[in-house]
This record gives sequence, structure tokens and C-alpha cells, in this order.
Amino acid sequence: MDLLLKDKVALITGASKGLGAATAAALAEEGVNLILTARDEKALQMQADRLTTEHGVRAIPIAADLTEAGISDTLVKQSINTLGRIDILVNSAGASQGGVFWEIPEDVWQDSMELKVMGTIRMMRAVIPHMIENQSGRIVNIVGNTGLQPAPRLLPGSSANAALLAITKGLAEDLAPHNVIVNALNPGPTRTERWTTLMGKLSESGGRSVADIEQDYKDQIPMNRLAEPDEIGRLAAFLASERAANMTGACLTADGGWTKGIG
Ligand SMILES: NC(=O)c1ccc[n+]([C@@H]2O[C@H](COP(=O)([O-])OP(=O)(O)OC[C@H]3O[C@@H](n4cnc5c(N)ncnc54)[C@H](OP(=O)(O)O)[C@@H]3O)[C@@H](O)[C@H]2O)c1
Repeated sequence: MDLLLKDKVALITGASKGLGAATAAALAEEGVNLILTARDEKALQMQADRLTTEHGVRAIPIAADLTEAGISDTLVKQSINTLGRIDILVNSAGASQGGVFWEIPEDVWQDSMELKVMGTIRMMRAVIPHMIENQSGRIVNIVGNTGLQPAPRLLPGSSANAALLAITKGLAEDLAPHNVIVNALNPGPTRTERWTTLMGKLSESGGRSVADIEQDYKDQIPMNRLAEPDEIGRLAAFLASERAANMTGACLTADGGWTKGIG
């Protein structure tokens, strides 16, 4: 299916690796020109070079720390100056840690909220006036199924995700009259660096092997496996596309059937 995305412009956060990088690849395959942002300048440059070589799109790396005040406005301005406009914003930066609730230090909670929740809010606040002016825009927030089904050892991320689902749903109503749609993508466990790091830390704190902890997660997933990043990246590309034009305030869950519940 042609997603009708050729020559659109997307700004992607968390684009140096994991789900952001996978989304960038899926959009590049559709002919989308890209602004890639994360902190690691070298990794971004490598991604950008690869996508340009493989798909002939423009891919511009802009290194930035999304927890820095004012950075979102700068990023949006730089993106528009470089590629003329922003049709699509994908928020994929996030790095929440897990652990036993009463042992998780306060700064872990603050970091999780600051990057994932406030980072996403700031990016949306910066880009929405531009999208309203254009009377067109697509926002995809990569959130996580723990926002619907909190995981006891992943509560900083679960609560950040719940906040983002509420914001996505509520914001959609105000943006719809401007032809700006905003949706959430809720992956379950997906094999990225973040997942590997999280499993390592849970293993250290819980005294169990990574394989055993991972198996506990798989046992709860009807598909009995983790997702691969490109599966999630392609769903994000669909949500960013013209094919999803009548979807807004929706939450697309892709977790191998783990999350139960209707509505
Ligand atoms: N993987 C999963 O199982 C899973 C499941 C559900 C939801 N999610 C969510 O999906 C999102 C992406 O996860 P992932 O698995 O792709 O993680 P990842 O592989 O660790 O990638 C995270 C991205 O965020 C960037 N980032 C981290 N701190 C940043 C900062 N301060 N400023 C700017 N960028 C920053 C990282 O790049 P730099 O280090 O270069 O800055 C990287 O590009 C996260 O919000 C995560 O909670 C993941």
C-alpha cells in the first residue's frame, strides 16, 4: 500500500536508535525527508547517511538534549529553515528506568517525566502553531502499552505513558478542526537497546538472570515473543500517513496481544 507520504517532511525525536530510528527508516522508505534528533551526533549522522544512500531522501541530523529549556523551539525553527516545513512529528525519545517501587530514587521519576512527558509536551507545543498555520499535520507519540496496563517493575515509564495517552486523547479534539491529527502508538516489549538495558538493571536489582526475567514477560504475551523495532516503525509510518487521516486521539496497541481490555 502506498502511504502517500512522498516528499513530506518529518521531524523525529529519539532517532539515533531503537524505535525512532526504525520509524525514520520506515518513513524514508516512503520517500519522506527527515530531521533526525537525539543527543548522539555521530549516531545521528550515520543514520542520516544510511537513509540518504538507501532511499535517496534528505536526512538532516540535529543533535539536541530534549531536557534542555527552549530546545524544542530551536529544533522546530531549525527544521523549518532547513526543509521548509514540518508535516509530521514523531516523538520517540524516552528512557524511563524500572525497579521495585519503594527502591526507585526520586531522580529516576523526575528524569522519566522530564524527558518523556515534558519532552513530548514541549515538542508538540513548538510544532502545533506551524501545523495549524498549514492546516495540516500528523503527530505520532510512541508511548507504550504500560500506559494502559501498568507493569509493577516499570512504574516510572507506566505513569509517563498514562500521562501521554491522556494528553494525546484530549489534544486531538482541539486539533481536529485544523486537520492536525495526533495519535499514540503503544508498543509492548520490543528488542531495542532500551529494552536490553532495562532487563540488565532488573536482573542486577532482582538477582535473576536476564533470560528468566525476559521469559516472564514473554509468558504474559500471547504471541510469546518480543516485537522487532521495524514492526513498530512501520506502524508509526502508517499513523503518520494519509491512510490514517480519519484517526485521531487513537491509541494503536502493538504488544502481541498482551493488553486486555476493550475501549
Ligand atoms: N523498547 C520497548 O520495549 C518499548 C516498549 C514500549 C514503549 N517504548 C517507548 O518507546 C520510546 C523509544 O524507546 P526505544 O526502545 O527506542 O529506546 P532507545 O533504543 O533507548 O532509544 C531512545 C532514544 O531516545 C534518545 N534520547 C534519550 N535521552 C535523550 C535526551 N535527553 N534528549 C534527546 N534524546 C534522547 C536516544 O538517543 P541519545 O542517547 O543519542 O540521546 C535514543 O535515540 C521510549 O519512550 C520508550 O519508553 C519502548
